[in-house]
Amino acid sequence: MKNKIMDMSTLDKRLLKELDDYINSLDGDKQEHLILVLHKAQELFGYLPQNLQLYVARKLNLSSARVNGVVTFYSFFNEEPVGKYRISVCMGTACFVKGADKVLERVQDLLKIQKDRISEDGLFTINDVRCIGACGLAPVLTVNDKVYGKVKPNDVDDIIRYYRGLENENS
Ligand code: FES
Repeated sequence: MKNKIMDMSTLDKRLLKELDDYINSLDGDKQEHLILVLHKAQELFGYLPQNLQLYVARKLNLSSARVNGVVTFYSFFNEEPVGKYRISVCMGTACFVKGADKVLERVQDLLKIQKDRISEDGLFTINDVRCIGACGLAPVLTVNDKVYGKVKPNDVDDIIRYYRGLENENS
């Protein structure tokens, strides 16, 4: 039986063609461009599922373990689909002692999902992160590149309402 997770036939052929063209356009030793290729693959597909990682591994003649090692090492690569708005709650020490766990709990309750999951409408993903270097603002929450400091659990309602509002404006 075919392993569904590793079944490359489910990948969008048009996007694969674009990825192939990109790989072919790279000069020199293609294996040295692994990170660039993974960036391109993520840009095209939105994230890097296992079968796409395997595809990249075969294309670059690398082991799938090597490719997966790079994907899991760098936090900007995602193995799961991500929402348009990535909510990250800092769980570093300074944020934790100031109640980051309660903030995370509130985000999860409001969106009705656990961390590392995507909301049903595809808009939000939640994750926890280590110190982002803004300890003076603890507890800290980010939405994509925007940083919110001294966040209280109740503030989370307004933050999420704001991003939902943006969507309504755009629809
Ligand atoms: S511990 Fe959260 S920003 Fe440093």
